[in-house]
Amino acid sequence: MSSYDNLLVRSQGRAGLIQLNRPQALNALNSALMDELVQALQAFDADDGIGCIVITGNEKAFAAGADIRQMVDASVVEMMASPFISYWDAVQKVTKPIVAAVSGWCLGGGCELAMICDIIVAAENAVFGQPEINLGIIPGAGGTQRLTRAVGKSVAMDMILTGRRITAQEALQFGLVSRILPDAAFLDRALELANEIAGKAPVALRVAKEAVNHALEMSLAEGVLLERRLFNLLFATEDQKEGMAAFVEKRPATWKGR
Ligand code: CAA
Repeated sequence: MSSYDNLLVRSQGRAGLIQLNRPQALNALNSALMDELVQALQAFDADDGIGCIVITGNEKAFAAGADIRQMVDASVVEMMASPFISYWDAVQKVTKPIVAAVSGWCLGGGCELAMICDIIVAAENAVFGQPEINLGIIPGAGGTQRLTRAVGKSVAMDMILTGRRITAQEALQFGLVSRILPDAAFLDRALELANEIAGKAPVALRVAKEAVNHALEMSLAEGVLLERRLFNLLFATEDQKEGMAAFVEKRPATWKGR
């Protein structure tokens, strides 16, 4: 595995772990970090030994947003030419499930990064927010769109117009996160979840992710049609035969990923 300046990367079982590692700046997402994050995600995506990826930070911060120091003097033309926003598009293209394991600050671009992931799990101390309004800007990496889809218009407006921060409990109540895991052994529990996912049939995981993500983009009729086609497609896989045979024979399935 390559070494990175702004990340710690390792695997545990079939889970690939990417830990954002700029603690001195609360993991503020500068170009160097995002560039490495995309590289690490693509490496895990291409690795048959990995079935699910976890992105996390440290106890104090998942990420406190895009790096304000890097943007403070930027002109509109520089912002338009910057590859920065395209990093989020690259994260979205990863085909394996990604779990955002959030403890501490998860603000601005940090919250946007978490929302591009497929599941967000929160430590009890996690704090989410889109505070860009306090900088004279708005979220710029999908926050106005993904937060609204996740929590509905009123809560999203409240958070984006006031910069209000919400707790892990509130995030659970609003549907932004799927579970709260205890602060003690938080990362171990997140890796357990990732390994649970990684133990499922790989092709089914991939198309399940594709189908659910399309639910945010398509009409219901188009989405149901896509789902039916993907569902039918899985009957061309050895894993479908194995999974159903294993159920009938009352034994655990052995997945081949084809
Ligand atoms: N960018 C750059 N540096 C940051 C940063 C950020 N987003 N957030 C924190 N830091 C740095 C601080 O400048 C500080 O560095 P120094 O020690 O060198 O001064 C260090 O991290 C520690 O931060 P604080 O001293 O501020 O820590 P705190 O515990 O007092 O406060 C905080 C924590 C409330 C998260 C506060 O740091 C904060 O408000 N950060 C900015 C949050 C923010 O506005 N995020 C949105 C960024 S814009 C964006 O994300 C745009 C987009 O949509 C893509």
